[in-house]
Amino acid sequence: MLEVAKLSKHFGALHVTRDVTINVEKGERRVILGPNGAGKTTLFNQLVGVFSPDSGTIKIDGKDVTNWSVEERAKHGLSRSYQQNTLFDGLKIGENLALAASVNTGHSMSMWRDSLTTPDVMAIVRDTAAQVDLTHHLDKYVTDVSYGIRRQLEVGLALATQPSVLLMDEPTSGVGPKMIHAFHHVLKRLPSELTIVIIEHDMSLAFDVADSMTVLNQGEVVFEGSPDEAKSSRLLQEIYLGTWEDA
Ligand SMILES: Nc1ncnc2c1ncn2[C@@H]1O[C@H](COP(=O)(O)OP(=O)(O)OP(=O)(O)O)[C@@H](O)[C@H]1O
Ligand SMILES: [Mg+2]
Repeated sequence: MLEVAKLSKHFGALHVTRDVTINVEKGERRVILGPNGAGKTTLFNQLVGVFSPDSGTIKIDGKDVTNWSVEERAKHGLSRSYQQNTLFDGLKIGENLALAASVNTGHSMSMWRDSLTTPDVMAIVRDTAAQVDLTHHLDKYVTDVSYGIRRQLEVGLALATQPSVLLMDEPTSGVGPKMIHAFHHVLKRLPSELTIVIIEHDMSLAFDVADSMTVLNQGEVVFEGSPDEAKSSRLLQEIYLGTWEDA
């Protein structure tokens, strides 16, 4: 479903991805791990088209999208949630979801207030809100809900574009254990045919949701395998120095 081959990118002397090859099957849950600065977010930026790679290819559902724009890739089913929230603070939660939903239903962004009430957009907002547990928050302003709820909305925005491949960049960053638990349930309930690549620092969540794991270190894939193989990998224990013990 997602085929990344030999993707390399450097910023000056810094090689942020080196020959990164990753193949993710349809419906697979792939967790990307790696220390701070390993190149995880930069990899996502190349996958979605924010940065062009120096070399390598990216295929989605068999199509080579390496030279496609961000918008073209989004229309082809690729969506991404961010490490930091990208919400419209002055709007309600439902309006945020409607805006995201209207991108793929072909409604003009300038007419988004009208598009909020069209049946197709309303249906997506309802479904997405149910998926990310926001049904009871739709009429609240973003500024009036907790940080954890805002993180769920960040994922909701990505889901509202009805992707076939969803990239999530540390969806639980900065949230407490209770919200991580809630997010766990959200992840488990997502449609099984949705292909998910998730960068995650919370080890118990990462090990529980992953079908497979890829570890980046200094821009290179240093491990790929099952969660069980990851747990017993000496190399990974060295990279993470002990933080694996929590897993
Ligand atoms: N636009 C840019 N220009 C120059 N250097 C960059 C740019 N974007 C990222 N970098 C550098 O690339 C390296 C990888 O950064 P990246 O954000 O991909 O790491 P990460 O694995 O997502 O880390 P974290 O776990 O902290 O989110 C870092 O050294 C970062 O400073
Ligand atoms: Mg990052």
